[in-house]
Amino acid sequence: MLDTNLEKKAAFFKENRYAVVEKVFDDEAIKAFSEYFLMSENRQTIDSRFYNLNARKIKYGNELGDSILLSLKPIVEKVTGYNLHPMFSLSCVYREGAELGKHKDSPSSTISATLTLGCNPETGWNILLDDNGVTKEAEMGQGDFLVFKGNEMTHWREPFTGEFQIQVFMFYTDADGPYAKEAKYDGRKRLGTPKSLAQLSKNGLKIVKLYIKRLFRK
Ligand SMILES: [Fe+2]
Repeated sequence: MLDTNLEKKAAFFKENRYAVVEKVFDDEAIKAFSEYFLMSENRQTIDSRFYNLNARKIKYGNELGDSILLSLKPIVEKVTGYNLHPMFSLSCVYREGAELGKHKDSPSSTISATLTLGCNPETGWNILLDDNGVTKEAEMGQGDFLVFKGNEMTHWREPFTGEFQIQVFMFYTDADGPYAKEAKYDGRKRLGTPKSLAQLSKNGLKIVKLYIKRLFRK
């Protein structure tokens, strides 16, 4: 990755609170990562049970997802200007009909990022961002890496009409900020591991509440 390109991305980020960096991995690496996630799409882990909703399979803190989170940290720091601690990754396989409702990420996640791996169609499933009332569209084709202030900007996607899209979401906390200690590795001892049972039950409850809220909204 050329530093001059990252300087341009950093200038764009400063102005817009988001930037898309292309080709953070070469095509061969993207293909290998994609094959891995497609092979493990239907393999359940304790954590993934909490997240499998609406045509999407999500793995929390997967070893490969967290490796990508860690390896892209220097690029995210260059683009955003923050010193960051990795929190966690969510590795997702979306299928036709998947949705991503309007939301903001948690305040402890100073910077959010998402990388498109394999997808069909190759143009990808774009993300929409609300920038003070103006909707911006971030193109998320294969290999595109979006870095954004997900805790400030509401973001969402229109329902997915393609065949599949593999996406790794990454969350980082400001290493000099108020959440640094508790949010580093999302409270886990190390990356690439599931949450503890205590953390899982808290999260499970949150998902159940969200599900009930959705039921009543319809
Ligand atoms: Fe988000």
